[in-house]
Amino acid sequence: MLNLVIFGPPGAGKGTQSNKIIEKYNLMHLSTGDILRAEIASKTDLGNEAKKFIDKGELVPDNIVIGMIRKIIERNISGNGFILDGFPRTIEQANALDEMLNNKKIPLSKMLFLDVDHEELIKRLLSRGKDSGRSDDQGLSIIEKRINIYHQQTKPVLEYYEKQNKAYKINGIGTVDEIFDRLCKVIDK
Ligand code: AP5
Ligand code: MG
Repeated sequence: MLNLVIFGPPGAGKGTQSNKIIEKYNLMHLSTGDILRAEIASKTDLGNEAKKFIDKGELVPDNIVIGMIRKIIERNISGNGFILDGFPRTIEQANALDEMLNNKKIPLSKMLFLDVDHEELIKRLLSRGKDSGRSDDQGLSIIEKRINIYHQQTKPVLEYYEKQNKAYKINGIGTVDEIFDRLCKVIDK
């Protein structure tokens, strides 16, 4: 199995590159952001709760997100493997993921960190905000807030995987295809 985590700040290209990776390697795409937005659209209890945080650009509480991923990993993991996009995003989530995977005897292959500078992130998200309909893309202040929260709460997850020798840093600047080639080289290594 090939089991990956794709990691990086808001706007780094996690979703864009995941779509290409799942096609080439035939993996399951688990994006917590996409799952939460689908819950919001369906107006489920989980969605209504998550909306309060997403609309403000804040992280949804760990217990909610961990419970959601736990259900998927315990029931639905099969085939060639998966790519986790947007999870784990806190040390608590990283610990919970290790525990879930250990229980299922599923190894995590690699963590792919897309490195993109602040200015480029802002540029991409402001541009996407024009037509994405995403509440958290609307305006500079909420985008800046998401990036700040990434630095405070999410960046430590990189060190967590560096200690396990699983983190690979990839230059996330360039065309989508150039970045995809860099990712494939690391995945195939
Ligand atoms: P989530 O949906 O995960 O959003 P995010 O991490 O903020 O990242 P984005 O999806 O905005 O960016 P991306 O890295 O996927 O980049 P993309 O490919 O889209 O999370 C949203 C919210 O949900 C969180 O704030 C939180 O509230 C909640 N949440 C989710 N997971 C959670 C968790 N685990 N715990 C707690 N809360 C959680 O690209 C961005 C743009 O750039 C696009 O327009 C794209 O076309 C463009 N682009 C991509 N690549 C390039 C390139 N090479 N050159 C130029 N433009 C490019
Ligand atoms: Mg995304």
